[in-house]
Amino acid sequence: MSQYPDSPLCSRLGASVPIFGFSHSLDVVVAISRAGGIGVWGATRNTPAEIESGLARLATETAGAPFAVDLVLPKDMPARQDRSAIEEAIPTEHRAFVDGLRRKYQVPDDGLPGVRSRFVRSEEMATDQLHAVLDSEVPLVAMGVGTPPAAVTAAKERGKRIISLVGAPKHAQRAIDAGADILVAQGYDAGAHTGEIGTFSLVPQIVELAGEIPVIAAGGVATGRHILAAFALGAQAVWMGTAWLFTTEHQIDPIIAAKLVRAGSGDTVRSRADSGKTLRQIKSAWTEEWSAAAAPTPLGMPYQDILVGDLLGSVERNRIEPLMKSEAGQSVGYFSGQTTVPELMADLATQTSTATGALRNRLGHND
Ligand SMILES: Cc1cc2nc3c(=O)[nH]c(=O)nc-3n(C[C@H](O)[C@H](O)[C@H](O)COP(=O)(O)O)c2cc1C
Repeated sequence: MSQYPDSPLCSRLGASVPIFGFSHSLDVVVAISRAGGIGVWGATRNTPAEIESGLARLATETAGAPFAVDLVLPKDMPARQDRSAIEEAIPTEHRAFVDGLRRKYQVPDDGLPGVRSRFVRSEEMATDQLHAVLDSEVPLVAMGVGTPPAAVTAAKERGKRIISLVGAPKHAQRAIDAGADILVAQGYDAGAHTGEIGTFSLVPQIVELAGEIPVIAAGGVATGRHILAAFALGAQAVWMGTAWLFTTEHQIDPIIAAKLVRAGSGDTVRSRADSGKTLRQIKSAWTEEWSAAAAPTPLGMPYQDILVGDLLGSVERNRIEPLMKSEAGQSVGYFSGQTTVPELMADLATQTSTATGALRNRLGHND
């Protein structure tokens, strides 16, 4: 018997474990799918060619198990890949602030881009990324910020199922209207781009609104108790991101790994300083500097990406300790050391089973 409550969604998708695992690491994604869950590859910062080869690798290495890809397709991005047009629109005050950080923390100007600035987020790039996804064998396509109807229609025509991440009922309604097949109710607690409503408040609202459309709970899920609670709130699975940062498959820089291990649930903060949209991450000198009274207000996406992208890339390459950081959710406080994906999946199964037994006892079901 499975340690998990019944999930018609996961049975339909061919997964034995109702855990969707989001990661930017292909190794993590493969390991999650091979352990019975559904690995979700975050590919928003990958070029179309990288997406093509990454998805081909996933199709082979997941060996028939389900897997997904996640793109971030926000509205109102510039039409074309034109970095100089973005640069020209960046105010002098913002440039001076970032130059000041570079000097203060002695970050070398090595002339190379970082993850956020290796290309400009644009309609042109989004279209090319989407084509790479549509031409691949990936069965599930997740949309992280926004659910553009044209992208949904194109993906569904190619036989893909659409998963939409939503942080508020109005986003859920838009995703349903656009044709999403599955909703992820992602609460304030979550790592990375996240909205204003906490997971506990959000999930039942989205479940009510979604009707027959299955809902997955995200944000703050770290233990079997959370998984059981997610089912009690009406979800058919959980979606986890922060947890996998603690797995050896992820291969994170040891400086960042140590910061993650030290962080408690109160040590994360939402900041617009990385992408222009609220991004939950562990507190660092970076988030402190940008929240200081003298700091400029971060720009919108994709201007902020380009303003800070090269600097953050150099921070990582040159291991400038105070500014090194990671996206992480409040669930970070539950993890205190490194593990492997199969070990974590096994722990979550045991914990869920224990939590279920404890709850049955409390409810007076002793059979
Ligand atoms: C390091 C990291 C990077 C993330 N990047 C993305 C992303 O590119 N696209 C996306 O849809 N969600 C992204 N997320 C959010 C996850 O999809 C997920 O909703 C979230 O991690 C769930 O909450 P948790 O962090 O408490 O597990 C990211 C999360 C983390 C921790």
